[in-house]
Amino acid sequence: MKLCILLLLFIMGTLSCEDMSDKVFLFPGPSATAHVILKPEIKKSLKNITICLRSYTELTREYCLFSMATPGVDNAFLILTKSPNVIMYALQEDRTFRIDPEALAWKHTCGTWDSNTGVMQLWVNGKLYPRKVAKKGSIIGDEASIILGQDQDTFGGGFDAGQSFVGEIGDVHMWDYTLTPDEIKGVMSGHVKGNHINWNSLYYDIKGNVLVQPKLYCKSWECASSTVKESIVG
Ligand SMILES: *[C@@H]1O[C@H](CO)[C@@H](O)[C@H](O)[C@H]1NC(C)=O
Repeated sequence: MKLCILLLLFIMGTLSCEDMSDKVFLFPGPSATAHVILKPEIKKSLKNITICLRSYTELTREYCLFSMATPGVDNAFLILTKSPNVIMYALQEDRTFRIDPEALAWKHTCGTWDSNTGVMQLWVNGKLYPRKVAKKGSIIGDEASIILGQDQDTFGGGFDAGQSFVGEIGDVHMWDYTLTPDEIKGVMSGHVKGNHINWNSLYYDIKGNVLVQPKLYCKSWECASSTVKESIVG
């Protein structure tokens, strides 16, 4: 954590770096401006990728859960929800997963892509949906813009309020490899952390109307810290 802050001061300027384990990002309303920029630990191109996060929303319209763009490739890796479907993109190619009807509850979503085979996996609340294949043999460039809350239609911008996220997002982790099913379970229970983006030492930058708020929920996998546990139990 100290190292993280030092690095931050020297390299990142105003960018925050924080252990977010007790917190969530709250996106209070639709907009074409509110978003959070996430910075990976190291800048590198990606042949394999896994992204996991938790979300909580009342939206019934289409919304963007996760958007990663590279210059000229706005949908380098993207997860969109358009009930009853989740649409995942790798390098502009989209594949649609039809998912179970959603309860109004926190939802844990993981998306993976493996360049060698092109195989894409979508996991929702620990359930793997039938796999798809896209963009076999391609590579996601190292100049990446990773954004929560908006769908990028250009590198770092081109937002549309009609696709903005409204609600809460937490536990965002990202890897430069494809997780095994056991590792996905470990992410859900909170002991497997990202090696590319790590919620427990997160470099982020808030733009517009997004709040950092305490996590106000507590189930076995959700109680990351003892302070949260004590305040809710006690
Ligand atoms: C990506 O994953 C495959 C396994 O499917 C592995 O063979 C390959 O080395 C990985 N590539 C990178 C760059 O990690």
